[in-house]
Amino acid sequence: MRVILYLAISADGLIAKKDGDSDWVSEVDAEEFERKIKVAGCVTVGRKTYKQYLNDIFPVKEVYNFILTKSSENQRKESNVLFVKSPQEIIKLAEEKGCKYVLVIGGGETNASFLKENLIDEIFLSVHPLILGSGIHLFQDIETFTKLELLAYKKLKEGLVQLHYKVIK
Ligand SMILES: NC(=O)c1ccc[n+]([C@@H]2O[C@H](COP(=O)([O-])OP(=O)(O)OC[C@H]3O[C@@H](n4cnc5c(N)ncnc54)[C@H](OP(=O)(O)O)[C@@H]3O)[C@@H](O)[C@H]2O)c1
Repeated sequence: MRVILYLAISADGLIAKKDGDSDWVSEVDAEEFERKIKVAGCVTVGRKTYKQYLNDIFPVKEVYNFILTKSSENQRKESNVLFVKSPQEIIKLAEEKGCKYVLVIGGGETNASFLKENLIDEIFLSVHPLILGSGIHLFQDIETFTKLELLAYKKLKEGLVQLHYKVIK
């Protein structure tokens, strides 16, 4: 089961402002990422991102929503929303549910948890033409060194650039 990371970032490598605001993310990117979620059949987010966009983006309808959390206090009644305790367990569940791949969409802590365990196969970044200065990093608090191979890049509307990397393992 492949694990693909998909994130909107600023030109200085941040995914949110200090106060957690991601409202600068363009609609152009939203369309791209909705397409990827549909193909994957699932979406994986950290508990903080899920809470921030609950009843807005989440739960995403008609796909499995895997929420990474150490807590078991979040249970909801929708059968497509699953609270999961580890990245490995998410991969196992995605396999069982027949998903095409695991699509991880943040935030920074969740991305780091998958990277630290060497579980990420590919990374898509939508680089936005702006600098946030300070805030939440693409990978929060990591000390690992990871090499990437550039597979493709394309120019999107509104000055966005999409980079597609393979993680060298
Ligand atoms: N630009 C973008 O494309 C984009 C995309 C997504 C999110 N964001 C932004 O990212 C920010 C949130 O990022 P964040 O780093 O603060 O939080 P996050 O990754 O969304 O959530 C962190 C939480 O995930 C759970 N978690 C992480 N690693 C885990 C592990 N190994 N095992 C079990 N649970 C684990 C923990 O939940 P518990 O505390 O419940 O145990 C942890 O507190 C928001 O501001 C959001 O807007 C931006």
